[in-house]
Amino acid sequence: MGRTFDENKLPLHVAIIMDGNGRWAKRRGLPRTAGHREGARTLRRLIRDLSDIGIRYATFYTFSTENWKRSEDEVNALMKLLEDNLDDVVNYKDENIRLRFIGGRERLSEKLVKKMENAEENSKDHTGLTVTLAIDYGGRDDIIRAAKKAMELCRDGEISPKDLTEEKFSSLLSTDGYPEVDLLIRTGGEIRISNYMNWQISYAEMYFTDTLWCDFDRKELEKAVEWYTSRSRRFGDAK
Ligand code: IPE
Ligand code: IPE
Ligand code: MG
Repeated sequence: MGRTFDENKLPLHVAIIMDGNGRWAKRRGLPRTAGHREGARTLRRLIRDLSDIGIRYATFYTFSTENWKRSEDEVNALMKLLEDNLDDVVNYKDENIRLRFIGGRERLSEKLVKKMENAEENSKDHTGLTVTLAIDYGGRDDIIRAAKKAMELCRDGEISPKDLTEEKFSSLLSTDGYPEVDLLIRTGGEIRISNYMNWQISYAEMYFTDTLWCDFDRKELEKAVEWYTSRSRRFGDAK
C-alpha cells in the first residue's frame, strides 16, 4: 500500500465519530439497523488499518448519551449488535489489541457489561493499538463524573481546590492515561461534535468528510492521516 505521509508525524490518538449508517441504509432501501450491521463490519476493517498504519490509540463514538432518544427498536438492535458481536468486531485476541470502554455502564445490559469487563481484562496486557469504544458516552457526562470525583476527593481531604490543575482534572476523566486526541475524524457530512470528548479534543485537528461511515475505507483513512501530517500545530505559539 503506497503511503504518502511522513510516518514520524503520525497522530498518536485518533478519535472517530462514526456517522451516517442510517443514511447509508436508506439509500439502499434497507432498514437503519442494516446500516449499523454494515457499520460494525467497517469498524472491524478500520481497526486493522489503523493498527497497520501504526496508530497507537483509536477511540470510537459508538453510542452517545443522546442516542437513547432513538426508537426502542433501534436502540435494542444496536445493543444486541454489541452484545453478540463485540469479540468479532474487535478481534483483540488475535491482533494484540488492548480493548477499553468509556461511558456509563449503569444503563447497559448485564450481558454487555460482562463482555466489556472480560474483554478489558483479557486484553489489558496487549501492547498493540488501544481501541476504545465509547458506549453511553457523552463528553459532558465525562466532565460531570470527573467533577464529582474531584468534589469527593476534596470532601475527603485528599486534595484542596488549588490542587485541581488541568492535569489533575484530566486524570479524573474516563481517558486517564491516554494522550490528548490529535486527530478527530467525523464521517457522514455533519460539521459538529455531538458531545464527543469535549475536553479531550481541545487541540485536536478536525477532519470532516461527507463519506458515510460504511463507505469509509483504508484509502479514506490514509487521506485523513495525510491531511493531518500536513497541519502546522502551533498550540497557541507563534512559530
Ligand atoms: C451513526 O450512524 C451510528 C450511531 C449513532 C449509533 P447514524 O445512525 O447516526 O446514521 P445517520 O446519521 O442517521 O445516517
Ligand atoms: C453521533 O452521531 C453519535 C455517534 C456516532 C455514536 P449522531 O448521529 O447521534 O449525532 P447527531 O444527532 O447527528 O448530532
Ligand atoms: Mg447520525
